[in-house]
Amino acid sequence: MRNAMITGWGKCVPPAVLSNADLETLTDTNDEWITTRTGIKERRISHVEVSDLSAVAAQHALAAAGLTATDLDLILLATCTADRAVPSAATMVQAKIGATNAAAMDVNAACSGFLFALSVADQMIRAGGAQRVLVIGAEKLSFFLDFTNRSTCVLFGDGAGAVVLEASDESGGLLAFELGSDGTAGDLLCITGSGTEGNPMRTLPPGILMEGPDVFRRAVTAMGDASTRVLAKAGLALDEVDLLIPHQANVRIIDATARRLSLDPARVFVNIASYGNTSAATIPIALTEAVEEGRIRPGANIVFAAFGGGFTWAAAVFRWGSRTTPITTSAAQLPPSTATALELLAPNIALHGKGI
Ligand code: ACO
Repeated sequence: MRNAMITGWGKCVPPAVLSNADLETLTDTNDEWITTRTGIKERRISHVEVSDLSAVAAQHALAAAGLTATDLDLILLATCTADRAVPSAATMVQAKIGATNAAAMDVNAACSGFLFALSVADQMIRAGGAQRVLVIGAEKLSFFLDFTNRSTCVLFGDGAGAVVLEASDESGGLLAFELGSDGTAGDLLCITGSGTEGNPMRTLPPGILMEGPDVFRRAVTAMGDASTRVLAKAGLALDEVDLLIPHQANVRIIDATARRLSLDPARVFVNIASYGNTSAATIPIALTEAVEEGRIRPGANIVFAAFGGGFTWAAAVFRWGSRTTPITTSAAQLPPSTATALELLAPNIALHGKGI
């Protein structure tokens, strides 16, 4: 049986930290509201683009897998904040890491994008269309932050995570997945000024619009129900789940999803306090940290669940292989920067103004 196993993992978060106290200087909010309503304490603001964050995460994932970039035959980059519409950020990563034998493309399913890309990679490998696939989730959502909109500007941050998926005879891999979309409700969560609509007059400035409470309810239902269905598809009982790694949008969404599944919070991975919502990057960053922190044992059953703009949702059951330590490490890092988060956000403030 040809399976696809995760053999490498890596992340890249930019150095500039935007704290809740910093946000108090930009909009009408406070640390107490953000902490209790979202679980977020700080997030990262990037001085580089999505392809740069991705290339560093990718090099760490390749080193962990003991591979070089030329070993790859496919790169899938899940993002909704690519450097440009064309070329894709995935092809920019291909050039940056020297993956000369790989085809490359972006996947946009907003916050669910990494699980969409992981599922495509798994199916490509099982069908024999690829041997070694790099799957990245990366975002620079800070570009769209509008500090006159306090209900969204406190939520998002930048970062990247990556995994290497390899064809293997080892048992395990993606036991089941489920992907879903509902485009009829897309306006409840959207990024304006990011495409062609309205652009002859440049009437739509960059910004994130969201009907928060509605999205909240839909996220809990979709992530909980999709997780229940993939567990049934995989033939796994709840007590066989070692770790749930959910999309990190709001700690209250994560808690409510775990309650809906009747899953012990000790078996849920949460790192939203440090990074906020990095959309497609949350799950691969969380997975990398979970491996590094020893939260994943050989043969562990991991459930992933995500919900995001589109709407899109996804859940997957993945059984880890035998190796939980990297084969080698990489010294790859971002170009140095001493700019503070507030300095990096000056263009946003110039465009929209402050919220106070
Ligand atoms: N600071 C202080 N007060 C605030 C803030 C803020 N940053 N933001 C909103 N408030 C106020 C509101 O104005 C409102 O005040 P009012 O009662 O006087 O009118 C009050 O807080 C409650 O507002 P709600 O929007 O009802 O707050 P809620 O508890 O729902 O939290 C939040 C809002 C955090 C946005 C939540 O709804 C949420 O997390 N939604 C889902 C986000 C998500 O999952 N997104 C999906 C992925 S994103 C993607 O795909 C790109």
